[in-house]
Order: sequence, then C-alpha cells, then structure tokens
Amino acid sequence: MSIEEELKERADRVSETIEAFLPDEEGQLRTITEAMRYACLSGGKRIRPILMGETCLLFGEIPKILPYFGSAIEFIHAASLVHDDLPCMDDDDLRRGMPTTHKKFGENFGVLAGDALLNYAYEVAATAVENEAVEAIAATNDASFNATDARMDALRAAKAMGILTRNAGVYGMIGGQCADVEGEGKKLSEKELVFIHENKTTAMIESAMMIGAVLGGADDDSIKLIGQAAKELGMAFQIRDDILDVTGDEETIGKPVGSDEKNHKYTYVTLKGVEECRKEVTERTQRAITIIDSLGGSDSFLRRMMLWLVDREM
Ligand code: IPE
Ligand code: IPE
Ligand code: MG
Ligand code: MG
Ligand code: MG
Repeated sequence: MSIEEELKERADRVSETIEAFLPDEEGQLRTITEAMRYACLSGGKRIRPILMGETCLLFGEIPKILPYFGSAIEFIHAASLVHDDLPCMDDDDLRRGMPTTHKKFGENFGVLAGDALLNYAYEVAATAVENEAVEAIAATNDASFNATDARMDALRAAKAMGILTRNAGVYGMIGGQCADVEGEGKKLSEKELVFIHENKTTAMIESAMMIGAVLGGADDDSIKLIGQAAKELGMAFQIRDDILDVTGDEETIGKPVGSDEKNHKYTYVTLKGVEECRKEVTERTQRAITIIDSLGGSDSFLRRMMLWLVDREM
C-alpha cells in the first residue's frame, strides 16, 4: 500500500468516528447541526487525529478514550477553519474543494457553526474525562478492577483535557489567529512571524501529538520530547501551507491559491522566498524525525507520515 493509501485509510476511519460523535440533523436545530456536519464531513486530511493516534502507538496501545480526543481536536480544527474563512477574516469561498461554510449557510451560521463546534469539542472530550473518573471511583470499590491503572487513566484523561483546551486558546491557536489578523498589511520580523505560526498552527499539532503521548502512557521526559518534535513539525506544516498558497494547484489543495497575497499577509514565503522555505521545511522535519527515532519510532508510520508532509501537495 502506498503512503497516500495508508493515510486515506486512516482518514476514512477518523471520518467515521467523527460522524458518529456529531449531532444528528433534526428539529429546530436542523440548520446549525447541518452546518456543523458540513464543516467537519466534507473532506480534510485528518492530520491531527492521525498524528494523535500514531504518537500514542509509539508508547502503548490506543486507549478507548482516544477517539473522543481525536474527534475533539478535529472539531476545534474545523471550527478554526470555518472562522478563518469568514469575510472578516481571510474571506475565502472555497475549502476542501467545496463552498466554505458561511457561503453555504450564511455568515451568521458561519459564526455560529464555529462556536458550536469549538464548544462541542469540549463536550465530547469532557465526556471521556467524566467516564474515566467514574471508572476510577468504581475500581476503588471493586476488587476485580485494577484501581491503580484506573486512577492513572483518569489522570491521563484530565491531562489530555488540559492540553486540548490550552493549546486551542488565547495562548495557542486563537492567539495566533489574533496576531495573524493584526499582522495584515504589515512587514513582520521573523520573530513576529514565528509567533504567529507557532500559535495559529503549531499549537494544535503539538496538542495532537502531546495528547497522543499522554494517552499512550509516555513518561514526562518523552512527552517533552514529543512536544519539541511537534513544534518543528507544526512550523514545517504551516511553512508548507504558505508555499502551497503560492505554488499550489487549487483543485488539489481545495482552497483558493493566492489567499495570502489577496489579504496582504506577510508569510514565510514573503520573508524567505519559496526555495529557502522548502529547505526550512525539510530541515525542521528532519529535526522532528531525529527525535521520533530517539523514541524508538524509526520504523513507525508516524515517521513516514512526517516525511510525506514535507512535499505534500494537498
Ligand atoms: C489547514 O489545515 C489550516 C492550517 C493550519 C494550515 P489542514 O491542511 O490540516 O486542513 P485540512 O483539514 O486537511 O483541510
Ligand atoms: C489558518 O492559517 C490557521 C488556522 C485556521 C488556525 P491559514 O489562513 O493560512 O490557513 P488556510 O490556508 O486558510 O487553510
Ligand atoms: Mg488565516
Ligand atoms: Mg486562511
Ligand atoms: Mg494558508
């Protein structure tokens, strides 16, 4: 199987899981639930849930709560895209090869679908945390359970919740989007640009991989190393996104080419040029891979996936 086929297989599995968590389209909430489902179910590479699962596998088996967190991170990601495309933000009409959510449902429902998905992510993740806490308490009173394991699982779920919420917020993705908006039309320093990229995009990649490590039972040193690898990978991912905004094919990337130029965004490509950016994507990915290798991942799908991301065209 090619790496593309393997990724597709994993993405399809993620999509099935997400679909099962999403609310049904019904009753008086028909429009909002339709918009939520539209924003989440019309394509997407599912990179973040896949990274979460594959990072988890470096350390242990996939626990039963991982699908909750995998879905939650994809809901936050989808929310960020819906808001990112709004007329007051990047004002884009195409996403994943389809009309953007606000184009299909109106601007009011674009705002509301983003809000609803962001909140829904926490509803789903909180369910996992509650379930683990209930099991830990039950295990204390039932000799047939291993109470220590159950308590560790509950602690890991709580830690995952902390990472998920913090990395999406004002000290993470949302903060990065704020700096991105304020940077429009300005010539930025490399430091300012790194701040934007580290927050708007890297924070969510970091969230995915660190939650994977936590739920896989990694020790604190390994979790820290995964955080470092994710920082490199996340930066590489957004620099590649900046490259594709210039060199990409609209049909393949599924979103408008030249959106950054249209919005007078100062990107990595503006700062360094396409060739230098390509080099930086490769170097940063190599540094991430060195860390993954040091954690025993030299034969992992995670490593192969990271290499694929360097030259991705979508
Ligand atoms: C796009 O993310 C927005 C960025 C953070 C660069 P993806 O490239 O992961 O988008 P989908 O989910 O595959 O559509
Ligand atoms: C958006 O960056 C990052 C987030 C949505 C948090 P971009 O604005 O470059 O993403 P695309 O290119 O529209 O996917
Ligand atoms: Mg943007
Ligand atoms: Mg955008
Ligand atoms: Mg972009």
